[in-house]
Amino acid sequence: MAAVRDYKTALEFAKSLPRLDGLSVQELMDSQIRGGLTYNDFLVLPGLVNFPSSEVTLQTKLTKRITLNTPFVSSPMDTVTESEMAIFMALLGGIGFIHHNCTPEDQADMVRRVKNYENGFINNPIVISPTTTVGKAKAMKEEFGFSGFPVTEDGKRNGKLMGIITSRDFQFIEDNSLLVQDVMTKDPVTGSQGITLSQGNEILKNIKKGKLLIVDDKGHLVSMLSRTDLMKNQNYPLASKSATTKQLLCGAAIGTIEADKERLTLLVEAGLDVVILDSSQGNSIFQLNMIKWIKETFPDLEIIAGNVATREQAANLIAAGADGLRIGMGSGSICITQEVMACGRPQGTAVYNVCEFANKFGVPCMADGGVQNIGHITKALALGSSTVMMGGMLAGTTESPGEYFYQDGKRLKAYRGMGSIDAMQKTGNKGNASTSRYFSESDSVLVAQGVSGAVVDKGSIKKFIPYLFNGLQHSCQDIGSKSLTLLKENVQKGEVRFEFRTASAQLEGGVNNLHSYEKRLHN
Ligand code: IMP
Repeated sequence: MAAVRDYKTALEFAKSLPRLDGLSVQELMDSQIRGGLTYNDFLVLPGLVNFPSSEVTLQTKLTKRITLNTPFVSSPMDTVTESEMAIFMALLGGIGFIHHNCTPEDQADMVRRVKNYENGFINNPIVISPTTTVGKAKAMKEEFGFSGFPVTEDGKRNGKLMGIITSRDFQFIEDNSLLVQDVMTKDPVTGSQGITLSQGNEILKNIKKGKLLIVDDKGHLVSMLSRTDLMKNQNYPLASKSATTKQLLCGAAIGTIEADKERLTLLVEAGLDVVILDSSQGNSIFQLNMIKWIKETFPDLEIIAGNVATREQAANLIAAGADGLRIGMGSGSICITQEVMACGRPQGTAVYNVCEFANKFGVPCMADGGVQNIGHITKALALGSSTVMMGGMLAGTTESPGEYFYQDGKRLKAYRGMGSIDAMQKTGNKGNASTSRYFSESDSVLVAQGVSGAVVDKGSIKKFIPYLFNGLQHSCQDIGSKSLTLLKENVQKGEVRFEFRTASAQLEGGVNNLHSYEKRLHN
């Protein structure tokens, strides 16, 4: 090799060296040398910063046919994702998967609530007839949480439009026996069937009214646009929506027992976009059969299969037709699977090996469990996953199910594993989701694979997800990759480099030698 003095610049010399500094991902993840690794065991080396972090795009694939603007996914756990979480995850550019530790009807209702939340055009508006009393209109306002009901001749959705009644029409009326036709606004502004969403939104902006009613050429009501939705549209530019209906995307989980076919049918009727086959060990004949049945019955529905931790598990599910994979066995923060079952894999190694294989077949992967901070998200993506599923990170937020309570002066919410005794014993379900997740439906003695606990109040995900978003953009900037796609490509090409971290290096990477400090993650 030539000496340093033979090169004009340091750059030329660096380029002449036989290998780049640090390790390629293949070298890092060679388990014969280092054993199984998880996120804290390594770091990504910094690259060249030549763009602002705000230019980093985080678009990524959830499944073969679904693309999201962010890689954030909420876990189908009964202390994490119900409709409120799923709505805001989708508005903020990710997606939520509604848990199935409830009746099929309740789960379908939650899916419906997400799908109807922001509906460019509201295709099923609640309507009222002209002969309904004002008292009933007031009660409907309470029941639905909004006023602004189109009035149709026969009180039906596609009836002839007579007017609109809003709370302004009845708020000062004390005689509840008056009829809607006596107080309604008789000449509401209408748009013609066929106008585009942006044309409709333009009219709404100009008329300064809350609702625009869309009618056909015979004056029959077709749909409605709402000013509140217009404002929501403006606030959530990254929202995950169906290209055709403009409805938010919604996922849900089911098990793999016979009754789950009926459950899935209800979910699909409610508008489900993507289903997760929820199992701690996805490589089962039950799951393979379920994938086959779903593909035959609902060919448009995307299926994420799992969980898997090895290439061979993944191969079976990919061959059966999975549109995405969920990776992780034993890495969850509430999980005791590795301890009790002796089965599982360190999450970094699981993510790398499964993704390396699945990506060859164009099957996007989700790294599920063990994510505790933005750095872990970056590492999961650098190891090849396309999205990251979170449970504990999103538990304890305003949008997670359950009430806050106080303990030791701290405001807390419950967070529990779906394999905890508590979750498995939840009654009132047709086929408890938790027991089926762990193949324990027929056990008289339940073997827990998770614990039940509590997490501190984290505030709203309306702040938390943007924090993750900005943090991930900055992280990609440090690495020198302007998009998640480039990050993956550059890892594969060996241009993004890694370093293994010893135990003392991990200590060094934390806060050291302070008498006291406060860890505030965002403003
Ligand atoms: P976290 O984000 O680290 O809290 O992990 C959440 C993930 O743990 C979920 O998405 C599930 O894959 C997994 N999980 C949920 N409940 C249990 C359980 O009881 N035992 C083991 N793993 C669980």
